[in-house]
Amino acid sequence: MSRQAKVNPKKIGIIGIGVMGKTLAQALLNNGIVNRETLWAAAKTEKSCEKARAELGIPVYRDYAEELKDTEVLLLCVKPHKISDVLEGLKKAGLPANVLLISIAAGKAIAVMEEQLVTPNPLIRAMPNTPCVVGAGMTAITAGSFAEDAHMELARTIFNAVGECVELDEHHFDAVTGLCGSGPAYLYLIMEALADGGVRVGLPRDTALRIVSQTVLGAASMVKDSGRHPAALRDDVTTPAGCTIAGLLTLEDGKIRSVLARAVEEATITASGLGQKKY
Ligand SMILES: NC(=O)c1ccc[n+]([C@@H]2O[C@H](COP(=O)([O-])OP(=O)(O)OC[C@H]3O[C@@H](n4cnc5c(N)ncnc54)[C@H](OP(=O)(O)O)[C@@H]3O)[C@@H](O)[C@H]2O)c1
Repeated sequence: MSRQAKVNPKKIGIIGIGVMGKTLAQALLNNGIVNRETLWAAAKTEKSCEKARAELGIPVYRDYAEELKDTEVLLLCVKPHKISDVLEGLKKAGLPANVLLISIAAGKAIAVMEEQLVTPNPLIRAMPNTPCVVGAGMTAITAGSFAEDAHMELARTIFNAVGECVELDEHHFDAVTGLCGSGPAYLYLIMEALADGGVRVGLPRDTALRIVSQTVLGAASMVKDSGRHPAALRDDVTTPAGCTIAGLLTLEDGKIRSVLARAVEEATITASGLGQKKY
């Protein structure tokens, strides 16, 4: 899955090295976008800094002002309600105006961040998901007022190296958060339930999970590689009076289609409020 980047940035800083920051750090290292000398990170507490240093083998700071002058790209990976503090800190630290900022905070609009920043830094909003760590992520990006083609190219280089990357208007970002940011969690739940089904009919748990993982991977590849509609692929495996139609009707009885679609809708609504939340 690993893809080599076309243009590697000289130094990347990750502000916020929690779940997502670590995922991206690991992904950037695994895919050769940066090495341990050209990647640094920051956290709020010394405990988190220490933990991330031990896990990633990169410098992790509480005070990162010194690093800013050599850094080309800053990935902002703090919770949405912490973005404002981070931008304030960057302003005080004299953030050079040419540093590209890429925010992955859900629900935090570009206009709000640009208004606070004041300096004309190129800013890109991105919404990645956790499979980035295995090179199979999905990320949407959108450009701020001062982001030029070269900055978007750099962002594409980073996110293409860890999966796929699409460019979308910012008004789609809450939807992307509900579908792509949260999507892996929906699929983990579905996979767990399918494995439970396997266990119910006598399969050992680890075998059931292995079968489910490969089946989901295979089905996803069929949809991606064939370019055919999932309904057409489903018809192909649904023989008259067979077992698949029996299983499918049971799923429809449970309203799986509307339950999943409504889950995306609900997550999108929640995402739209994340930028204003205080926690
Ligand atoms: N989770 C997902 O699947 C997903 C997907 C797409 C996008 N996102 C977005 O990713 C962002 C991060 O989410 P997460 O789940 O990774 O959060 P998280 O695990 O809570 O990590 C947040 C990190 O930010 C650090 N931090 C907080 N305030 C800081 C400050 N002032 N300066 C420097 N570092 C600071 C925290 O340090 P301490 O530990 O020391 O407090 C921690 O390392 C969110 O905005 C979310 O919307 C998440």
